[in-house]
Amino acid sequence: MPHDFMPGLAGVPAAKSAISDVDGTRGILEYRGIRVEELCQHSSFLETSYLLLFGRLPNASELTQWVNDVTHHRRIKFRIVDLLKVMPEHGHPMDALQAAVAALGMFYPGRNVKDVENNYWSAVRLIAKLPTIVAAWARLRRGDEYIPPRDDLPFAENFLYMLTENMPHPLWSEVFDDCLILHAEHTMNASTFAGMVTASTLADPYTVVASSIGALKGPLHGGANEEVVMMLRDIGTPAQAKSAVEARLQGKNKLMGFGHRVYKVKDPRATVLQDLCMRLFNVCGTSPLYEVAVAVEQLAGERLKEKGIYPNVDFYSGIIYDKMGIEVDLFTPLFAMARVSGWLAHWLEQLRENKLYRPDQIYSGEHDRHYVPIDRR
Ligand code: SDX
Repeated sequence: MPHDFMPGLAGVPAAKSAISDVDGTRGILEYRGIRVEELCQHSSFLETSYLLLFGRLPNASELTQWVNDVTHHRRIKFRIVDLLKVMPEHGHPMDALQAAVAALGMFYPGRNVKDVENNYWSAVRLIAKLPTIVAAWARLRRGDEYIPPRDDLPFAENFLYMLTENMPHPLWSEVFDDCLILHAEHTMNASTFAGMVTASTLADPYTVVASSIGALKGPLHGGANEEVVMMLRDIGTPAQAKSAVEARLQGKNKLMGFGHRVYKVKDPRATVLQDLCMRLFNVCGTSPLYEVAVAVEQLAGERLKEKGIYPNVDFYSGIIYDKMGIEVDLFTPLFAMARVSGWLAHWLEQLRENKLYRPDQIYSGEHDRHYVPIDRR
């Protein structure tokens, strides 16, 4: 019995999964049944990654082993560094990340996805190496030398150190780790689904993650966090927010950082990100972008709430990264560094009962046509 065509597969279940759940009406996000707010309060990105991949929180020795395994796999091959060095420095960091991740698969075994032990190490390598690749690209493209990871620093702190070669403010590492938790997983989003389609062909995990990175880059998905900050900079001040919002909505342009396929209330992650903004500003001073964002949210809310359009995860995240001095085109790679845990969790879950994704279509073309020689066209 053919199913009805649903544009964008809206509302169509593409998988059965126990990894995360979103209640779009009540604004609830749970990872393995635990609310994401609670994980931000009590957990770390690596502990949350373990929860997502293996279905439960690790005990003390499991967590120590997991953190050690990831920490000791942060380094990247010098040939990957060389690959990054020859890429055009004006290129987008998501392209550099996707190319380098695909190349990882040339150095490490991954083809036999039935090998559970090797799958564990593939997941460890990808979670461990994405931050190193992002930081390496950020430095190499501006002519700075590559700063190797430090095994004596926790995950978030090490990333911020690799970016600047300076030790970050302790609060920055805490806030950044919470941002990674918030971005780690989100049910059947486009980049997770893209990875699952690739995984269903039994491709290796490096190729699966490269597929997901490609999908995440788009401005309707992960690329929105970069667009939001450029929009806020464009607007300039809260006083100009009203005319800017009107102009965008009149012109049928989407307000970046607003709207969601599932949430019809404010994305709970946006609320946590605002709290993180407050924590940061209390110590490092406020951000003019934040005042503009709050004004935009207020004005847009009046116009869009009847459509159930509210801020999503991308609306406030970039304000935090900007305050930390991170360049705006690195924002989506930061999203990828976190979401790789969700992508890998779905990869491992799907492998248990894999079925090749091959949907149907409703054909709208013609039949029984014949070739026409060029002199008769
Ligand atoms: C992420 O799926 C996930 O879970 C994604 C994510 C995750 O964690 O993985 O949550 C992360 O990608 C968040 C979304 C980031 N993208 C943006 O902020 C880009 C702006 N948002 C929109 O493009 C849009 O809201 C989407 C793409 C997010 C969702 O769009 P849908 O579900 O396909 O809905 P639609 O584009 O068909 O819009 C329905 C209506 C339309 O109006 P009408 O033509 O029916 O009159 O709502 C309007 C749209 O014009 N609308 C907006 C709007 N988003 C939807 N109008 C103005 N501004 C917006 N942002």
